[in-house]
Amino acid sequence: MEANEHLSAGATVAELLAWAFQQLSAGESPKTDARLLLAHCLDQSSTYLMTWPDKIVETSIQTQFQQLVMQRKMGHPVAHLIGTRYFWTLSLEVTPDTLIPRPETELLVEQALQLPIGPNAKVLDLGTGTGAIALSLAYEKPTWQVIGVDIVDDAVALAKRNAIANQLPDVKFLQSSWFTHLSAKTFDLIVSNPPYVESDSQYLSQGDVRFEPITALTAGKDGLDDIKIIIEQSLAHLKKGGWLMIEHGYNQATELATLFTQYKYTNIFHKKDLNNQPRITAAQKP
Ligand SMILES: C[S@@+](CC[C@H](N)C(=O)[O-])C[C@H]1O[C@@H](n2cnc3c(N)ncnc32)[C@H](O)[C@@H]1O
Repeated sequence: MEANEHLSAGATVAELLAWAFQQLSAGESPKTDARLLLAHCLDQSSTYLMTWPDKIVETSIQTQFQQLVMQRKMGHPVAHLIGTRYFWTLSLEVTPDTLIPRPETELLVEQALQLPIGPNAKVLDLGTGTGAIALSLAYEKPTWQVIGVDIVDDAVALAKRNAIANQLPDVKFLQSSWFTHLSAKTFDLIVSNPPYVESDSQYLSQGDVRFEPITALTAGKDGLDDIKIIIEQSLAHLKKGGWLMIEHGYNQATELATLFTQYKYTNIFHKKDLNNQPRITAAQKP
């Protein structure tokens, strides 16, 4: 990597950003990426970059920034390079152990908060990853008892760190393959953003997903293997009248409705994302 190519030491904030925009111009969001990376290296907000464009950046920080820009140019997700992603109201640590939380998953949080569920609800987040959904729900509903599980030990450790960092120490996280370590616990609400990508999907060779674990993404040929398990096994872990809400692919809503019907759930409904695609399906245990 030739980090200093075409840019001498002692560059200003504006010069570094201009250099980075050019380096990243083939990407989807060169300006946002460059600003996030420079703000991270300077340990400042994006506002600082706009307020101090003529500030000369220390050589060591310039070198660090240029190296990160070159890694971004090679495709590494910005969230992995800076170690953080904002989700809902929270700042979450992210690592390559699990999925980087996506803005579309905020739709699931939004919809879960609108369900008719009492103040002392017991809530389970299946495949919690960074803890994004569990922690957002606990932040909004401090009286809910929220548990998140993940099959990956390092993801569970990450979610626990995120709980502490976001002052939500009451949210519990444990390692479990779906319900295996949950014994006979029952819940008022089960939420999940499980792996749901088809194993041969072209999407897997594009963008950030190339750097995320396959265990967080794919679920068999039609992407429904984990969703089938969750819909079937949730029945034994939901209270009467309890809700199951699942995020899924834009082309999977009909299959989810069929599965929910097959297992005799009621009040099945879908919610669409900003692109008008159904991405959430929920239903109630009768
Ligand atoms: C699509 S990611 C979602 C992560 C997080 N909930 C989010 O929305 O950002 C799916 C998560 O499910 C976890 N997972 C995969 N198989 C699992 C299983 N059998 N039991 C529990 N978790 C599983 C993965 O490790 C991953 O963290």
